Amino acid sequence: MRIALGSDHGGFELKEAIKGKLSEKGMDFKDFGTLNSDSVDYPDFAEKVAEAVASGEFDQGILCCGTGIGISIAANKIPGIRAALCGDCFSARMAREHNNANILCMGGRVIGIGLALEIVETWLEAGFQGGRHQRRVDKIAALEGKYHPRCNCEP
Ligand code: RB5
Repeated sequence: MRIALGSDHGGFELKEAIKGKLSEKGMDFKDFGTLNSDSVDYPDFAEKVAEAVASGEFDQGILCCGTGIGISIAANKIPGIRAALCGDCFSARMAREHNNANILCMGGRVIGIGLALEIVETWLEAGFQGGRHQRRVDKIAALEGKYHPRCNCEP
């Protein structure tokens, strides 16, 4: 599994901790920045990671900003992206199992690093259940087709 990582300055410290965790687990990842705690704009990093996932180059993405809100809103503008803001392990598991979410978003100023790393573990272990959930995820894709008819919305 290839993972694309990104953050703004508000999520920088958390992203670095996640990198440590992924390295420990021997996982394949790429850091799309930001690379320090200087102030930057979260949509820029949401776009890089979301494009990398939507193109199929990466299987999953993880994005962090101060609250996780702005970066998740921005990532969800990219067709094929289902970014889920999670602050607990149950939501993280459901986001994968039911929503087939492909980007995990978290707020570095909201949750502690210990909890965030547990959420990452949960996210990586969970898988999409398909079945009735596939129908619903297909309906999300249909919304993209309806409201963004010129895009190629194949996730
Ligand atoms: C940056 O100050 C902050 O607004 C950003 O990290 C994020 O919380 C936005 O949703």
